[in-house]
Amino acid sequence: MSNSSKTNDSKVSKKDKFSDTYKDTAGAGSVLSTVSGPSTNQPPKTLGSDDPVKQRLLDKTLGGQELAEKISSNLNKPHEYGEASRTPLTGAIVEPTSPAAGSSTSSEIIASPKTGEGILFPGSNPTVDSLDRVRVDSSNQPLTTNQGVRIADNQHSLKIGLRGPTALEDFILREKITHFDHERIPERVVHARGSAAHGYFESYRALTEFTTAAPFSAEGKRTPVFTRFSTVAGERGSADTVRDVRGFAVKFYTDQGNWDLVGNNIPVFFIQDAMKFPDLVHSVKPEPHHAMPQASSAHDTFWDFVSLMPESTHMLLWQMSDRAIPRSYRTMQGFGVHTFRLVNAEGQSVFCKFHWTPLAGTHSLVWDEAAKIIGADPDFHRRDLWEAIEAGAFPEYELGLQIFTEDTANTFPFDVLDPTKLVPEELVPITPVGKMVLNRNTDNFFAETEQVAFCTAHVVPGIDFSNDPLLQGRIHSYVDTQISRLGGANFHEIPINSPVAQVHNNQRDGMHRQAINRGRVNYEPNSLAGGCPFQAGMSGYKSYPEPIAEDKVRGNPELFSDHYSQARLFWQSQSPAEQIHIINAFRFELTRVQTPAIRARVLSLLVNVNELLAGSVADGLGIELPPAMPLASNLPIPTYPPSPALSLLTRPGTTGIATRRVALLISNGIDQKCVSTLYEDLLKDGAVPRLVGTRLGKVTTADGAALDIEITLEAGPSVLYDGVIIVQGDGSLQHNADALDFVRQQYRHCKPIYSIGGGILLAVAGVPSTFADGTPDPAVIVDQEKIQDASLTQFKNALAGHRSFEREKDPCPV
Ligand code: HEM
Repeated sequence: MSNSSKTNDSKVSKKDKFSDTYKDTAGAGSVLSTVSGPSTNQPPKTLGSDDPVKQRLLDKTLGGQELAEKISSNLNKPHEYGEASRTPLTGAIVEPTSPAAGSSTSSEIIASPKTGEGILFPGSNPTVDSLDRVRVDSSNQPLTTNQGVRIADNQHSLKIGLRGPTALEDFILREKITHFDHERIPERVVHARGSAAHGYFESYRALTEFTTAAPFSAEGKRTPVFTRFSTVAGERGSADTVRDVRGFAVKFYTDQGNWDLVGNNIPVFFIQDAMKFPDLVHSVKPEPHHAMPQASSAHDTFWDFVSLMPESTHMLLWQMSDRAIPRSYRTMQGFGVHTFRLVNAEGQSVFCKFHWTPLAGTHSLVWDEAAKIIGADPDFHRRDLWEAIEAGAFPEYELGLQIFTEDTANTFPFDVLDPTKLVPEELVPITPVGKMVLNRNTDNFFAETEQVAFCTAHVVPGIDFSNDPLLQGRIHSYVDTQISRLGGANFHEIPINSPVAQVHNNQRDGMHRQAINRGRVNYEPNSLAGGCPFQAGMSGYKSYPEPIAEDKVRGNPELFSDHYSQARLFWQSQSPAEQIHIINAFRFELTRVQTPAIRARVLSLLVNVNELLAGSVADGLGIELPPAMPLASNLPIPTYPPSPALSLLTRPGTTGIATRRVALLISNGIDQKCVSTLYEDLLKDGAVPRLVGTRLGKVTTADGAALDIEITLEAGPSVLYDGVIIVQGDGSLQHNADALDFVRQQYRHCKPIYSIGGGILLAVAGVPSTFADGTPDPAVIVDQEKIQDASLTQFKNALAGHRSFEREKDPCPV
C-alpha cells in the first residue's frame, strides 16, 4: 500500500507526505474504540469514510467532549452548605451543539419498524402522557402469540398423533398456559375491593394566595384524575355493601406531577399512630385460625382490639352509623382525614383539611337492605358507578377546604395532628374550591383499577405534610407495599400510574423497566450530558422548613388523650333516626361477638360518650351497663355544640331523582297508558325505571297490547330499587309471595311506594299508609284509579328525599 519504501525518506518525511490526511484522521482509532485516546483535544475531522454512522459517532464523541470542557467544575457546590442551602440553585447546564452529544449509540439513526425513525424529540419521555399510546384494539386482527406470531389453531395442543401425548415443543400452548398461570397478582393488603373511574378536577378559582399546587393555579383549570373507591377489610371478591369504611382515593395527574389525595368517606380514623396500623388491620381482617368472617368487623378480635384502644371510640361511632353503608359511591363524602399543609410561592404555609361533597347528596342504605344486597348483587356499588357513567350521569363531587393557621390551630381544644379528631365546620367553615367530575369508565379493570397505585407520598409543590404520626407512617407504607403488589420498583411506569408531567431522573433498571433512557449518563452532577437532567432548584419541590427543637421520643401529645368528646359531638349531631341506626349497629356487631367481657368493655367506652346510647346497646345485649372506662387523663374535657353538618340528612344533594332506580311492578291487565306515561316521565327526569314482573316475556294490558317485562322479582328483588310504583292489574300479584315480599321490603327499607289502581297489594302485604299515630306517610301514596299529577309529584319528591325514616319502628311490624 505505502510507496514510502520506494524512497529513502525518513519516518518524518513519510509522515509529511501523508500529513494532510493524517491530520484529518489522527485519533480516529480512539473514537472508533471505547477505551482511552490521545492526550490532546485536537479531534479528527473524519473517521476515514463518509459513512453516516461513523459521522454520527464522531459528532457524538466531539459533542460529549465539548460538553465536558464547558463544565469545568460543579458551580453549585458552594450553595449546598449552611443558609445558602435553603434556596437550592437550579442545576448548571450546557446546551449541546449537536443532538448526537447525548446519545447512547451512533447507530440510533438506523431506522426500522421497531426502533423507529431515530427522530429525536429532545427532552421528551413518551412513556408518560396519555393512555392512548397503550390502548389495544384487536378488530380485524388475527390471533397471535406474545411474540406476534400468528396462531393457526387456537383449539388444539400439538400432539404426537391424534390420540397421542402433547409435544413439549408446543410453545403456543405453553405460552398461553404460562401466562394464564400468572394472571393473578397479590391483592391490596387493605382496600382490596374497589372500583374506579377517570375524570377531571376543575378549579373554581386560583388559590395562589395559599398554594402553588398545580390544580389550583388558575380559575377554570382542569386536571385529569383517576378516582378509586373501596372497602377496607374485605378481600378482592367480597361484597360491596358490607358495613365498613370506604376508601376515596383521587390521583390528580397535574402538570407538576402526580398528587394523590388518599382519603376515606369518614373524616377521622381509629388510631393515632402508624405503629398501631398492622394491629388494627390484623384485628379486623378474618380471624387467623379459621379465616372468618369475611369483610366484617362483627367479630371478637376487632372489638377486643378497639375496646382496648379508646382513641378509636370516635371512629367507631362513625363506623356504626349509616356512613358505613352508603347507598352509592356517588352519594358519600370523602375526607383527606389528616391535617395537611398548603404552601404558597413565598414559602408561607397554612394548615388544610380536604373535603369532597357529592352533588347527588349523602345517602345510605339501611342495614337490613345492605345485608340483603350482599346476596342480591354483591357488585352493587361497582355496578352503580359503572352504570351511572355509562348513562352519562357523571358523578360530581365538590372539593372544599378548611384552611387555618398554626396559631388558630393552637386555640382549638384538640390537637390538629390527632387523626381521631375532626375540625368542626363551626370552628373553620369549608370553602368550596373546585369540582371533580367522573366521566369515563375504564377500558380494562385490571390494567387500570387493579394496577393503580395511590400513595400519600405523592405530593406536588404547594402541598405538604403535617406531623400527624399516622400520616407520617402512611408516607412510607404505600410505595413499600406496592413494590411487592406490583412486582418491583418500576410500577410508576405502568400506564395508569405514570404522570402526564415529564419524568427525567437517573433511576435505572429493576424489574419490568419500560423507559429506554438514551445516553451514557445516569448520575448527577455530570458534564458528559451537559449537566442534564439538572436539579430544578427553587422551581422544584421544597419541603416546608418547619422549625423543630424537640427531644427524640416515643409518645403522644397530652391532648391526644381526650377520646370521647368528639364521639359525643358526633352522637349529638345525629338525627333521631340516625341515632337508632347507630344503636342497632352496635347491638348487631356486639351480639355476634362471643366473649362477654369484650361486649362489656365496649359498653364501658360508650358510657363515656352517652348514657342513652350505652344503655340502649346494653339493653339489646341483655346485660347491665358497666361503669365507665377510666379516662386516660385528667385534662379538662371540651364540650362542643352539635354540628348539623355531621348528619347525613342535612345534605340531600341537588340532582333530584336522577339515577334513582324505580321498579314498576306490573302484571296482566294493567293500563298500558298508565305504565308508559310513568316510564317516560321517570326517564325524562333521569331516573331509571324497570318493568318488573313474575317472569320474563310479555304481559297483556287491559286493552290487549303487550308489554315486555324487563326483570323478574327474583332476579331484581326489592333491595335493588330506590322506589316502587305498583300498577294494579289482574290482581295476581297479591297472591304471589315474591311480590308481597317486594312491597314489604320497600316499606321496611323506608322507600317511597306509589300504588295506582287502588292499594290492594299493599293491604294484603300489610303495608300501612299512615304512621302509628294515624298521620299519613307521605311516602306511601295510593291513587284509586288513574295517575294524579299531585301524587306523582309527591312520589318523586319522596324519591329525591331518599328515605322516609319516620316510618321506622323497632321491631318493624311489616
Ligand atoms: C398508618 C396508617 C395506614 C397505613 C400504614 C396504610 C396502609 C395502606 C396500604 C398498605 C394500602 C394498600 C395500598 C396498595 O396496595 O396499593 C392502603 C390502601 C388505602 N389506604 Fe391506607 N393506610 C393507613 C391509613 C389510612 C388512612 C388513615 C386512610 C384514609 C385517610 C387510608 C386510606 C387508604 C385508601 C383509600 C386506600 C386504597 C387506595 C386504592 O384505592 O388503591 N389509609 N393503605
